[in-house]
Amino acid sequence: MEEKGFRRWRGLLHGLLTAAVRLLFLLSACSVVASAREVGANAYPGVQLLVHNDQVVMDNGIVEVTFSNPGGDVTGIKFNGIDNLLEPRNRETNRGYWDIVWNRPGEPSTYMRIEGTTFKVVANTDDVVEVSFVGRWSNSSDSHLAPLIVDKRFVVRRGSSGLYGYAIFEHPKGWPDLDVGEARIVFKLNGQKFHYMAISDERQRVMPTAEDRASGRVLDYKEAVLLTDPSNSELEGQVDDKYQYSCENQDNKVHGWISSDPLVGFWMITPSHESHTAGPVKQDLTSHVGPTTLNVFYSNHYAGRDVYMSFRNGEAWKKVYGPFMVYVNSGSPEEDESKLWVDAKGQMLTETISWPYDFIHSEDYPSAAERGTVGGQLSVRDRYVKNSDMLADSAYVGLAAPGEVGSWQTNTKGYQFWTQADNNGSFEIRNVRPGVYGLYAWVPGFIGDYRYHMNITVKPGSDMELSALVFSPPRSGPTLWEIGIPDRTAAEFYVPRPYPGLMNKVFKNDTGERFRQYGLWERYTDLYPKDDLVYTVGIDNYRRDWFFAHVTRNIGNSTYVPTTWRIDFNLQNVDFRGIYRLQMAVASATQSRISIRINDPNEQPHSSTGRFGYDNAIARHGIHGLYWRFGFDVPGSRLHRGTNSIYLAQSRTARTPFEGVMYDYIRFEGPPRTH
Ligand SMILES: *[C@@H]1O[C@H](CO)[C@@H](O)[C@H](O)[C@H]1NC(C)=O
Ligand SMILES: *[C@@H]1O[C@H](CO)[C@@H](O)[C@H](O)[C@H]1NC(C)=O
Ligand SMILES: *[C@@H]1O[C@H](CO)[C@@H](O)[C@H](O)[C@H]1NC(C)=O
Ligand SMILES: *[C@@H]1O[C@H](CO)[C@@H](O)[C@H](O)[C@H]1NC(C)=O
Ligand SMILES: *[C@@H]1O[C@H](CO)[C@@H](O)[C@H](O)[C@H]1NC(C)=O
Repeated sequence: MEEKGFRRWRGLLHGLLTAAVRLLFLLSACSVVASAREVGANAYPGVQLLVHNDQVVMDNGIVEVTFSNPGGDVTGIKFNGIDNLLEPRNRETNRGYWDIVWNRPGEPSTYMRIEGTTFKVVANTDDVVEVSFVGRWSNSSDSHLAPLIVDKRFVVRRGSSGLYGYAIFEHPKGWPDLDVGEARIVFKLNGQKFHYMAISDERQRVMPTAEDRASGRVLDYKEAVLLTDPSNSELEGQVDDKYQYSCENQDNKVHGWISSDPLVGFWMITPSHESHTAGPVKQDLTSHVGPTTLNVFYSNHYAGRDVYMSFRNGEAWKKVYGPFMVYVNSGSPEEDESKLWVDAKGQMLTETISWPYDFIHSEDYPSAAERGTVGGQLSVRDRYVKNSDMLADSAYVGLAAPGEVGSWQTNTKGYQFWTQADNNGSFEIRNVRPGVYGLYAWVPGFIGDYRYHMNITVKPGSDMELSALVFSPPRSGPTLWEIGIPDRTAAEFYVPRPYPGLMNKVFKNDTGERFRQYGLWERYTDLYPKDDLVYTVGIDNYRRDWFFAHVTRNIGNSTYVPTTWRIDFNLQNVDFRGIYRLQMAVASATQSRISIRINDPNEQPHSSTGRFGYDNAIARHGIHGLYWRFGFDVPGSRLHRGTNSIYLAQSRTARTPFEGVMYDYIRFEGPPRTH
């Protein structure tokens, strides 16, 4: 009863909010469509569905959306006097489509558009029309198709300025093996209209065109282009690279493009990240030159081969990607882009509080009542920091498939539900799909990962409270010195200014996300042309003196060499019989192996991380990729009274400028206290 009441109340609130947002929008926008109508859901006409042999049209009086039949590609979106917000010059299959990258085991990967073969009307009322286009592999069909069933769904609602989409991917039990490398939906927008892109408050501007990129000079890899002759001369001499517009899943809520004539916005809104891959800090592409807008549900960007999705021995699997909303808005000629960006953010909030949606007609998408809640309180126990337990301030806490500690960051097949605890370490994860999960956490300011010792079973309507969870981060002795902040990124270290001739001026704030600029890896060679970085504990400041990435050095003629960093530190007293420990947290690694030497640069390595890392986050301007943690014992007999040195050699290969690691945090611990 209470829940129903709550839901009704929430529905009302949602209705009011939506009406308020729309009212504001109508009052100021005076768009042709809107001014002809009164405000209020019932003032809008019912949604019309027209099914033709080769196309399906859904029209709610605000947007008219056209799909190919039975392919289920979005071929047209008519809105506010623009015949098609999508690129009419592209073929119909190249405007709004789902695609994957996949392969059979051992074969090279291939790219595939998901094309429907059967069309079905799922719901058809005045309030909501939902359609389904299913693409299905069959044993007799040709081998170009991945052995999957994909049900592409699209929804248009009465009075709603846009459309919703989602897809149900299925690998039925017993079907052939495959690997999947990427799954996403792509919208290619009308290039005559959309020139302004907005990813965040800090990243937005008039963008180059696809033609500008084509005439530019390709830099160190094909995605990065120096604009040499752009149609908009202000962009000349700037770099464009789609990876500069990436963001973490947790921040990927609304992004898109704006046309200035007429003033119209096209937005990808992601109200929940439950179906995105590999947790809240996994990064991926958003929008980029094309003009293109993506929703990447799964890829191995910023992760590499450690994040993959393989089906073997007929494994049964099903997952709903989405729903997302494509939101469109408009303004009057005297308004500007900021108006539409602010309105789109408002719509994003409206969509977020409406999650889970109550208008989706798939039994694979549970309603609010069919989901559960898991709450609790986490604290941190580290007796070398404090004698009593500490509240896990702002801890990230999440539910993901059961697995090893930290396994969420490579988990691709399941759903994940994350939240951030309050200052007291209290958390509540709402709207969790029924299922069996592991409960995982990490706490800013501490190294390591937490996992609850038992599986968590969420049932429809269940509300579970886990009190007194205690995380004991890795620690074996008192801190003698430390470099950086344990926050899983290298952002606090020295990030140099970009080369003036290789800037991307999409960033409004030069200090905020400078790490997304192109070519910063080469600055290492400028700063350390002969001798590598030496960091002296107690004198140097990691914000200034610790380069953000331990990269190779360019010695000219496209030749790179491995580099060795040295940390000097002073010990007044040495416990020659004690065991010291070097704790090392790494925020990203690409083709790396860090060898550690103590006080002798020529010795056989004292220890090593072994080969690790394929996340390519240095080239992709990511500031972090996957998180790794290492601990190395250092016998006191290896240390002296006075100055000691630890050598960190990134020693694996040096074929490119992008190989190396980004450290998160390094700590040297004294021998354990005896109690
Ligand atoms: C496909 O067809 C072959 C030969 O008819 C059969 O042996 C196999 O079991 C079928 N596979 C599936 C997944 O239906
Ligand atoms: C955290 O705990 C303090 C002290 O117990 C309390 O005053 C405060 O309200 C709590 N904060 C939250 C967000 O629960
Ligand atoms: C948790 O669930 C997984 C997968 O179902 C299972 O393999 C594992 O044994 C379970 N762990 C515990 C502690 O029950
Ligand atoms: C720029 O970014 C930094 C770091 O995120 C932030 O502290 C600062 O307030 C920003 N400055 C402006 C002008 O937005
Ligand atoms: C650069 O490399 C090429 C090919 O290996 C070689 O022929 C040339 O002599 C090198 N130039 C310099 C300046 O080292």
